[in-house]
Amino acid sequence: MTVVCIALLLLGSKTIMEVTILFFTLSVLAVLYVWVRRSSYCRRFQHIPGPKETWLLGNALQIRTEEFHRQLYDWYKQFGPIYKIRLPDTYMIVLSGYEELWDMFQNTGLDLAGRYNNFRMSHHVRDTGLGNRFPDGKWKLLRKIVHKQLKQYGEGMKTMEKAVAEISEYMFLQFSNASDAKRTLDPFDIFKRTAVKIIALVACGERLADDHPLVNSLIQYEENVWDMLGDLSLGSLLIDIFPLALNLPIRASRKLKHLDNIRDRLARELGQLGLKHEGSLMTMLHDCKNNKKESRGVGPVGVLHEDDIMLTLITILFAAVGTSSLSFYCLINILAHRKDVQEKLWNEIRTNSPDPKKNVNLLNRPEMPYSRAVIYELLRYHSPAPINGLRLAVKESEIRGIRIPEGTVIAPNTWTLHHDPDSWDEPEHFKPERFLDNEGNLLAPNHQRRKHLLPFSSGVRVCPGEQFALARLFLWLTNLVKRFEIIPAEDNDVSKIDPDNFRLAFLLYPPRYHVLPKRRSGLNTGHCTG
Ligand code: HEM
Repeated sequence: MTVVCIALLLLGSKTIMEVTILFFTLSVLAVLYVWVRRSSYCRRFQHIPGPKETWLLGNALQIRTEEFHRQLYDWYKQFGPIYKIRLPDTYMIVLSGYEELWDMFQNTGLDLAGRYNNFRMSHHVRDTGLGNRFPDGKWKLLRKIVHKQLKQYGEGMKTMEKAVAEISEYMFLQFSNASDAKRTLDPFDIFKRTAVKIIALVACGERLADDHPLVNSLIQYEENVWDMLGDLSLGSLLIDIFPLALNLPIRASRKLKHLDNIRDRLARELGQLGLKHEGSLMTMLHDCKNNKKESRGVGPVGVLHEDDIMLTLITILFAAVGTSSLSFYCLINILAHRKDVQEKLWNEIRTNSPDPKKNVNLLNRPEMPYSRAVIYELLRYHSPAPINGLRLAVKESEIRGIRIPEGTVIAPNTWTLHHDPDSWDEPEHFKPERFLDNEGNLLAPNHQRRKHLLPFSSGVRVCPGEQFALARLFLWLTNLVKRFEIIPAEDNDVSKIDPDNFRLAFLLYPPRYHVLPKRRSGLNTGHCTG
């Protein structure tokens, strides 16, 4: 508009006065246009309750970034199981009740299975990796391939289970060293490192050495990606609303560009590594790209591009590492502060896996309900992804009779589902027994409490790593407790396991802590055999 006015002025066809009048008229018309459009957009959400919003920025300035999950809980108490929040550019519908979440996950098919990618995300993963893309044919194919690859890690797949156990020895060795030196340790990096090496094995088929430079780069990248995605600072929001702001010399744009560079380098290096190993996820994806023999029965051939492959590897990396390592980090401190839970675990472990030189394995799992209940309770208590993955309505749809317009962002608020006192007795307490019946058996999957536990979500876009993650957490937990007793360090007070002190950066981060591992008698080294 300003350009039009200046052009008129330069062409000399109007006086300054006329151009000024024209400028103001056009400005008023532009504001009116935006106002009418915005009002008609807002009217489509009038039927849904929500916190009071301002005209331009909606509720954006009310958002408390690092505790957004708890803020959503407070709003749930005020506005009920379905409410709306306005972000500057769109409405977000927050679903918090079990019925509402179940309806969305199970009954709306692909209509609400889009992924909400803000500009930063779309730019960084180019909307093409498995976790971010629109639910189309390629997305289905990618899920099928990833499922097929991860299935290898189930019970009965001895080779892969052995490889995972071997990689986890790194973790046990660090605990052994600390125990021998009677020194405390913060296991944050140890768990991250172990998780990264396992996922590198799945993706590329390569067992990376502890000091392999890729391990450090992957860890660094994974941490920064969550920080960048979870960042709701003004600079980041500015880039989301006005993508041109990516060219401004602000912290958020520098950070994003830096991450883009690391992504490209990692993708190149992982790609080269993966192609060397027949049977890795990388080669399975490449078979589809290269039209190889009906892609080993996983789907139609020749539809994947290099970008789809690389960004799927990258998204798997950040979907798989943070979630399980943060949860396990949270669990080890809970055990340190809860001797009673540790004692019960230890009793179950020594009954079912009495040989001190042998690892607990997945075949022991059916006989170990308490250990499994500890893991379910952990996923409820910690809820590593407390707002699930944000979804997008790709079509107008309905949840429990409420109309959800196309293009709406959906926040499945599993934090509230897992901490609502109407569903859980003393939700703020860590009580594995809530997943056991009176005989100490694990509750059946159709029991109300099991159904109310949705840390991996459910339905068409459910986390494809669910079984893999549960198996890995079980092996880590039981084999660590089999070797060590965990004692809190002096400065590690119980407030560090209070979820009120966890920080949200897309995933939920417990505070850092130190523990003192004490080797159990009967085990002379950190090593066991399968
Ligand atoms: C405790 C561990 C984990 C938790 C709590 C978790 C949770 C989740 C959640 C809530 C979602 C979003 C689903 C939705 O949009 O409805 C998700 C997606 C995903 N997860 Fe996990 N996850 C875990 C571990 C893993 C592992 C180990 C892998 C891979 C090895 C993995 C791979 C993925 C992928 C690829 C997606 C995107 C799927 C899609 O968008 O179609 N996750 N996960």
